Amino acid sequence: MAVKLNHTIVHARDRRASAEFFADIFALPRPTPFGPFLDVEAANEVTLAFLETDQDIQVQHYAFLVSEPEFDQIFDRVKARGLDYWADPAHRRAGEINRNDGGRGVYFNDPAGHYLEIITRPYGSG
Ligand SMILES: [Fe+2]
Repeated sequence: MAVKLNHTIVHARDRRASAEFFADIFALPRPTPFGPFLDVEAANEVTLAFLETDQDIQVQHYAFLVSEPEFDQIFDRVKARGLDYWADPAHRRAGEINRNDGGRGVYFNDPAGHYLEIITRPYGSG
């Protein structure tokens, strides 16, 4: 089997604001235009294709596996922007991170309201 996720569409109210948010917060390469999309590529070659819409945005969940040093850097940027963050996907534990699977994890939202997550250990690996 060699089926790999290659790209997905991320709906945005303002595609540039959302794409630049992802690129900045995760220290990914600058967004590049592709047709109606602004593409941001993750380190595992999955393209996040930001698409602007005036319709209601159905909130999605995007989780990123990062190293421990990257967690510190990303989390510092989350805090520097004054973003709300939570230890859990239900947003009950505000201002906390979790220690699931022997690593660290935290949730925060992108400008369109999508639920983002960074983890240092894959689910179930601890
Ligand atoms: Fe998750």
